[in-house]
Amino acid sequence: MKLLVVLSALVALCAGSATPVVPDDNSHYVEGESRYIWMPDGEGVPHLVDLQEPANQAFLRNRNGANNQYWLYTRLNPTDPQVIVHGDADTISSSNYVASSPLMVLVHGWNGDGNSTMNPTITDALLAVSDANVIVVDWSALASSLYSTASAGVPSVGQYLGNFLVWLINTAGGDWDNVHLVGHSLGAHAVAVAGRMAGGLATRVTGLDPAGPLWRGNDDAISSNAGTYVECIHTDGGILGLFNPSGDADFYPNGGRNPQPGCLISTCSHSRSHQLFASTVRYNHLNGSLCDDINQAQINQCSGATFKMGNSDLSKQGNGIYGLTTGASWPF
Ligand SMILES: *[C@@H]1O[C@H](CO)[C@@H](O)[C@H](O)[C@H]1NC(C)=O
Ligand SMILES: *[C@@H]1O[C@H](CO)[C@@H](O)[C@H](O)[C@H]1NC(C)=O
Repeated sequence: MKLLVVLSALVALCAGSATPVVPDDNSHYVEGESRYIWMPDGEGVPHLVDLQEPANQAFLRNRNGANNQYWLYTRLNPTDPQVIVHGDADTISSSNYVASSPLMVLVHGWNGDGNSTMNPTITDALLAVSDANVIVVDWSALASSLYSTASAGVPSVGQYLGNFLVWLINTAGGDWDNVHLVGHSLGAHAVAVAGRMAGGLATRVTGLDPAGPLWRGNDDAISSNAGTYVECIHTDGGILGLFNPSGDADFYPNGGRNPQPGCLISTCSHSRSHQLFASTVRYNHLNGSLCDDINQAQINQCSGATFKMGNSDLSKQGNGIYGLTTGASWPF
């Protein structure tokens, strides 16, 4: 009897915590149970993450939102960023920032930086269609740490970002009705914290496959109070991303889960969210259809009223769960 108990405990332990050996393969992953997960860095390269590794509190005292860097891109400097320093108004006045133009803010995820692929891809798309200020947030000083540490530091990254944006608009001018915050993975939760820090005034907040591990039921996670209109695009729901609706409108391309068309693995599906978003900024071509419920979204059988996914429309408003089918490669 004793032996049986020990044996079954051992089996349970192994099922939950066995080290997955095939890089990139998250097929073992059970949300809320599995200890290990393969997670992509800013270039999509998979790293094995131990979700039970405690956050490094000593590291968090030195690396947090205070290390955020803010890189401004405009049509006058589409590839060479101008660094805006919080508290130094000269860095704004000597930059190409235009107070009356749209302000889009991009925040990368774990193990990324300001140069991570999503940033130039979305920046290029936005500047092609809009004479905007694009601020890329580089929080690599913290994002490059253990996932558990980076994740625990996300609220700080968001708070500093929120305070920075309030300072920027108070100092140099700007209009919250022109502000669109966009974050991928952990970055989606960071922009949500920033949005709430700014009183929910940003007209749009977009979460691109908001990070799932350590974020289910987390009070700092993205939610509809982060801005006037909050949209989430779910592409690896239940693994690297949250599957539950988390905004005013939630889009579930191709069922919202892995594998997305053209992807075999969840790291690819997770990154697909920012590629889809960049594509809709350029072409605004992906129509969602309203779903009766999340189950209908998951089987991609939604057929209600249509609503565009993504795009850069600052007056966008809506709510509900939407499904759609996309292509397997750009522009999807
Ligand atoms: C980003 O890219 C630029 C240009 O290649 C380089 O100078 C800079 O050091 C990079 N920054 C980071 C954080 O990787
Ligand atoms: C999306 O909807 C627009 C109308 O809003 C329509 O013109 C277009 O053909 C639709 N696109 C697709 C791929 O169905």
